[in-house]
Amino acid sequence: MAIQSFSEVELFTELESNVRSYCRSFPAVFSKAKGHSLWDTHGKEYLDFFSGAGALNYGHNHPRLKQALLKYIEEDNIAHSLDMYTEAKAQFLDQFSEIILTPRHMPYRVMFPGPTGTNSVESALKLARKITRRESIISFTNAFHGMTLGSLALGGNQFKRDGAGVPLPFTVHMPYDGYFGPGMDTIEYLERFLHDLGSGVSLPAAVIVETIQGEGGINVAHAQWLRSVEKICREYDILFMVDDVQVGCGRTGPFFSFEEAQISPDIVCLSKSISGYGLPMALTLIKPELDQWEPGEHNGTFRGNNLAFVTATQALRTFWQDDTLSHETRRKGGYVKQFLDHLSTQYAHALPEVRGRGLIWGLVAESRDDLASRISSEAFRQGLIIETSGSESNVLKILPPLTITDEALEMGLNILQDAARRVIESRA
Ligand SMILES: Cc1ncc(COP(=O)(O)O)c(C=O)c1O
Repeated sequence: MAIQSFSEVELFTELESNVRSYCRSFPAVFSKAKGHSLWDTHGKEYLDFFSGAGALNYGHNHPRLKQALLKYIEEDNIAHSLDMYTEAKAQFLDQFSEIILTPRHMPYRVMFPGPTGTNSVESALKLARKITRRESIISFTNAFHGMTLGSLALGGNQFKRDGAGVPLPFTVHMPYDGYFGPGMDTIEYLERFLHDLGSGVSLPAAVIVETIQGEGGINVAHAQWLRSVEKICREYDILFMVDDVQVGCGRTGPFFSFEEAQISPDIVCLSKSISGYGLPMALTLIKPELDQWEPGEHNGTFRGNNLAFVTATQALRTFWQDDTLSHETRRKGGYVKQFLDHLSTQYAHALPEVRGRGLIWGLVAESRDDLASRISSEAFRQGLIIETSGSESNVLKILPPLTITDEALEMGLNILQDAARRVIESRA
């Protein structure tokens, strides 16, 4: 067979498009995964501090989710259904409402926009523009909302924007919380631009914000800042949208990352960990009075992934009937923060800052010498999968499964520490 004529990694480099990316940072061929670990074809184990970029909050192949999925498939239940009514979808909607929405007094309508995070963002943009009859959207510096043209236009990363090949219009970028450093309140900036008829910024349809910018370098917005953005939206009759694709589903502690800020977004984008098993699934949550779609006005073939509905339902039942996971996430997060603070103090020059919340943390590295990428490579060599983020890839991103054991968390952090030490001390 042709497969045998290539070495393991060569097969991909010969046959797969040059666009591939994560595999360049983690050049192994993976075959198995369980909980917080992956194994390559040689049986080498890797601890996962990346969690499928936030799609595996409950780890790999969780046994309860897997059993529900296997049973569902074995019984010849329906797999694909466009957006027709199915039993699996009914159960998901029922449980999502009972376990997540109702106790939080969030009477959102649930839209299935397509399988991925960018599908949710695109649907939110369309709906906001349709409702308000305005064209532009305000997003923030260092934002990331997806790779299709509408969501790409909201993003800050120049390299990714350049890939569009066309202008990315109808978006105004405003400074995120802390963009100019601690001395400047970026809310005043936003308000002035909206208020001043000479600013050149016309009234937008919506503001879209990440409470923590996952791809943009783990920038954390203060609760008060988020409340002020919401207040401005209310004052100017602008729709207020939160993109919780990466930091929702418990990543920061509560199910939604914005709960602690006590804000009430008009539209919420969710994806990544909503299926709980790494299966493609996305939701757009819409306040009932804003659910102004005509039937079929937004459509798509893969909006009814029943396998994902089954694992999503099981994930809600397993993890969200009480506060245990939220508490554990905060507790483990406290430990990570303490560990990273210590590391940052030890190498204050090379690793000047730690930021994050819950179980999403960023260890900022000096941009010089590709330090963060080199630490990530060394950690990988030692069996830890850890990605970088930020426009200069200078932030090591600590994103373990929420279900990781204390021992594995400690082991992973020790590898990170050792990798940082080796790389930093090997420099001139
Ligand atoms: C905040 C946020 N929004 C949207 C997306 C896009 O999701 P997807 O890659 O599933 O299209 C991402 C992906 O990383 C994200 O982090």
